[in-house]
Amino acid sequence: MNVYITTHSENTLINCIYEAQRCYLQVQNKFRCKIGNVIGNIRDILDSLLLSQKETIDEGSDLAESLTDAHLVGTISDLFGAGTDTTIITLHWTLAIMAEYQDIQKKVAMEIEEVIGHDRLPSLEDRGRLPYAEATMMEVLRFSSILPLGLPHATTCDVMLGILVFWTTSD
Ligand code: HEM
Repeated sequence: MNVYITTHSENTLINCIYEAQRCYLQVQNKFRCKIGNVIGNIRDILDSLLLSQKETIDEGSDLAESLTDAHLVGTISDLFGAGTDTTIITLHWTLAIMAEYQDIQKKVAMEIEEVIGHDRLPSLEDRGRLPYAEATMMEVLRFSSILPLGLPHATTCDVMLGILVFWTTSD
């Protein structure tokens, strides 16, 4: 991997990434000690990844090459990296928009109160029963548009899709 360091802030960022990777390894080691407990008791993606890693190694599968410790740390750090700022910034936008449009905030609150009440947390099953809240979230995402250009993507080989050709950029 090439790392080009040009400014102090980039240097700091790269140190943070290395520090985060050290933390992920510590977390992973802790979980690994408990691998016996996760069998039949998958609680999250880290449990699933550790179990898949163990299974591929036990079976002597070629897939074990794609589930090394480095891959697991990479996957977990992708989720934290991609999921932290996006969620924080979207929540900031939500608060700002709800403060500006209090009539809409009231309707969302009433719907949540009617459907969920105060005695439990919301779950995915509630999603279809909260159309106004969901439409509001969609509108916040559309309006805030925090990643307007998305992420750069590339094909790993030349691909023909109808009349479109995507030339690979990797050699
Ligand atoms: C409101 C919160 C979020 C927003 C607005 C958001 C937005 C986005 C956008 C626009 C992309 C690029 C899609 C593309 O160009 O193909 C993306 C990709 C991604 N997001 Fe999120 N995201 C959010 C939360 C999260 C969370 C919580 C996670 C993980 C726990 C996550 C993990 C990822 C990953 C792994 C990718 C890359 C997918 C790929 O490689 O194709 N995101 N996200």
